[in-house]
Amino acid sequence: MTGFFDFTQAIVRKPGLSVISGLREGDGADPDYVSLCKEHDDYVAALRHAGVSVDVLEAAEPYPDSVFVEDAALVFETGALLLRPGASSRAGEAALLLPALKRHFETVLTMDEGHVDGGDILATPNAVVIGLSHRTDRKGAELLAILLARLGKKAVIEQTPASILHFKTGCGMIDEETVLAVPEMAGCGAFNSLRVLVTPEGEEGAANVLRVGSNVLIGQHWAKTRDMIERLGIETLALPVTEIAKLDAGLSCMSLRWQGR
Ligand code: GLY
Repeated sequence: MTGFFDFTQAIVRKPGLSVISGLREGDGADPDYVSLCKEHDDYVAALRHAGVSVDVLEAAEPYPDSVFVEDAALVFETGALLLRPGASSRAGEAALLLPALKRHFETVLTMDEGHVDGGDILATPNAVVIGLSHRTDRKGAELLAILLARLGKKAVIEQTPASILHFKTGCGMIDEETVLAVPEMAGCGAFNSLRVLVTPEGEEGAANVLRVGSNVLIGQHWAKTRDMIERLGIETLALPVTEIAKLDAGLSCMSLRWQGR
């Protein structure tokens, strides 16, 4: 039987040289381009190792954050949705993804109002959780909920804590019944039917894990969180994310993943 995390296909985009100017909170240091590309290569290799067929799109220099393809679209086995990213510098990224989505999906729905970043969407077996945030507004979330229903998906709308960029900056699914969350998000109503593992103190940055097949991909700095997950009998794969993290991004942001038919 195919499990919820048994993705067979993914879309990623190579980082352009402009990625070093990607969005970030505050005035943090630029990432190192060569090291960031290595992190991206390792990530793609991990997806392929998990049996995922990866469509690698060419870099898009005019869009520094376009390596974070997850923010501009949503994909499911039933179809794809072009989103409307909430940062003005990212507004053109959805249109950029359209040709690739059309190659893979018969149905590609579009939004014509509001804003939603894919980083604010957590797919769980019961519902697609849409987190309102600095990037995702209520108008966008409500329209997205209607569009998701057309793809056979139930949506619930929650609030992302103000200190957290994207909903999934603070949480990630570990298995079909378990979510990893930072303390501020542990009480989120959408997690009521799930077991919640809370990130250990000092490891809040670990929360953006990515389950692919039988493995949980996790940033390599987060030893305590990794132990916690492995104690559940789930294998982890630690990946370097130091440079990506300088752009307030993590493992889920770098791909669109789905189960092909
Ligand atoms: N650098 C990722 C984002 O802020 O959208």
